[in-house]
Amino acid sequence: MNANLEQIKQEIITGSEGLKSSKEVYEFKKTFLDGKTGKIGLLMKEMKNIAPEERAAYGKGVNELKEWALEFLGELDLEMRAKELEARYEAEKLDITLPAEKVEEGNLHPITLIRNQLIDVFAGMGFQIYEGTEIETDYYNFTALNTPQDHPARDMQDTFYLSPEFLLRTQTSAGQIHVMENSKPPIKILSPGKVFRSDDDATHSPMFTQMEGLVVDKGITLCDLQGMLDVFVKKIYGEGTRTRLRPSYFPFTEPSVEVDCSCFECGGKGCKLCKGTGWIEILGAGIVNNKVLENCGIDPNEYSGLAFGIGIERTAMLKYGINNIKLLFESDLRVLKQLND
Ligand code: DAH
Repeated sequence: MNANLEQIKQEIITGSEGLKSSKEVYEFKKTFLDGKTGKIGLLMKEMKNIAPEERAAYGKGVNELKEWALEFLGELDLEMRAKELEARYEAEKLDITLPAEKVEEGNLHPITLIRNQLIDVFAGMGFQIYEGTEIETDYYNFTALNTPQDHPARDMQDTFYLSPEFLLRTQTSAGQIHVMENSKPPIKILSPGKVFRSDDDATHSPMFTQMEGLVVDKGITLCDLQGMLDVFVKKIYGEGTRTRLRPSYFPFTEPSVEVDCSCFECGGKGCKLCKGTGWIEILGAGIVNNKVLENCGIDPNEYSGLAFGIGIERTAMLKYGINNIKLLFESDLRVLKQLND
């Protein structure tokens, strides 16, 4: 009988060598130690077939084998679990020395940036925002702005007509009329928006953005205009920037001026950007023509107004040194990422 017990012990030793997981150990253990079907359990049931004088020794032998198997396989189970835990730690290990994945930050489009900056500057001076519509009537875009049918100044703006009456606005100046028709002075508005002209080259695009300014009150003069524009150029182009006014012509202003600012690249000495003149043209402006005030029911003997129109793309091109307006519309991230302040 002892030989049989020894054989089972050997079976456990050799069988345990091929075990690879705590689960396999568990299954293996069951085949020997399960109360009903385990090989060692069955040995106990053999007791009745053993001669009475040998029973005590047999029972002792089986019990010792059982104790030994429990301890042996219990240790194996512990070893296996420790290895498994180790493997799990290894697999779940975080390499905290790896550089973090870079989160790409977006930035506002330069047109939006300049638009917001202009709004900030003029809102600080008490201007309110008026956003008109992109489809306008011929009356608001031209006639009421003292540019009736057949006026030669209509040639300055090649227009997309939708019908004889409706058109895509060519200038945000159309908003001036709506505002003056609907509110009484004092008026101080800023009107940003898209405008459209049949124009297409390196510095012109069929769609571009303007920012209109209009102030109507008692005693408004060109000095008020220059004072406001001085603040504007300092904020956008830098503290040392100055402005100068040159005579010009727009049907809706009298006098009309072209506003230049001192070259922010060379400080006025003359360079490539300012074509050696020291000055850069930045916008058109003037004192609102009496006829325009009258068209809107405002008495020019009591009130006067100033107006200006800024091209946002032009402002962005000057500020960022861009020589082709198309770069502002192509959404090339390599370009847009550089234009972000
Ligand atoms: N509307 C003009 C244009 O698009 C710009 C302009 C000039 C607007 C003079 C004004 C102004 O308000 O007073 O060319």
